[in-house]
Amino acid sequence: MNAHVENILFNAENTALLNQPADADSLKAALRTLGGGVSIITAGEGETRTGATVTSATALSVEPARMLVSLNRSSSTWPVVERYGHFGINIVGAAHEEIANQFAGRGGLRGPARYRGAEWTTAVSGAPLLVDAVAAIDCVVEEAIERHSHVIVIGTVLAIRLGTGRSLLYQDGRYHAVG
Ligand SMILES: Cc1cc2nc3c(=O)[nH]c(=O)nc-3n(C[C@H](O)[C@H](O)[C@H](O)COP(=O)(O)O)c2cc1C
Repeated sequence: MNAHVENILFNAENTALLNQPADADSLKAALRTLGGGVSIITAGEGETRTGATVTSATALSVEPARMLVSLNRSSSTWPVVERYGHFGINIVGAAHEEIANQFAGRGGLRGPARYRGAEWTTAVSGAPLLVDAVAAIDCVVEEAIERHSHVIVIGTVLAIRLGTGRSLLYQDGRYHAVG
């Protein structure tokens, strides 16, 4: 850490406007207020398929078309994304709360079992895409940056499928339908 950054951190502790310590609990409390668009990350083929519900999928840039997602390195999804070099970003809507819960690992479902109860197609990259997603974005991995507990995966967009509706929002620990 350089001296300038050390000075900033020292001053931060003494700033009256800051009323929370800069720790994980305060950060979680701050992030609970932030409404995040819900997507399901999908990867793998057949019995190797798995995936995760995320709020971290967003655009890195639109020109060139690049997406990014921050995945926990200890999740079942990252090794499959790494192995296949692909991932689908399935933006989900109000009708998909149940499937979003499955991909969050609730109910103990793992791997291909998370795909139950919805219709899937295979994208150009080989990643599974949710047929009735609000929108689905097919990506191949351009770069993966492993940092702390997570890996920032940057994807080159190969294909896009536009459905209807608006994304589900996750805020204050629960889903909210908008639009
Ligand atoms: C609303 C919501 C947002 C989430 N966002 C992320 C995320 O951005 N990155 C991530 O790695 N996990 C995220 N998770 C957790 C994963 O969905 C969950 O840990 C994963 O699917 C289960 O891990 P497993 O595959 O190892 O069982 C989120 C969960 C929920 C409910």
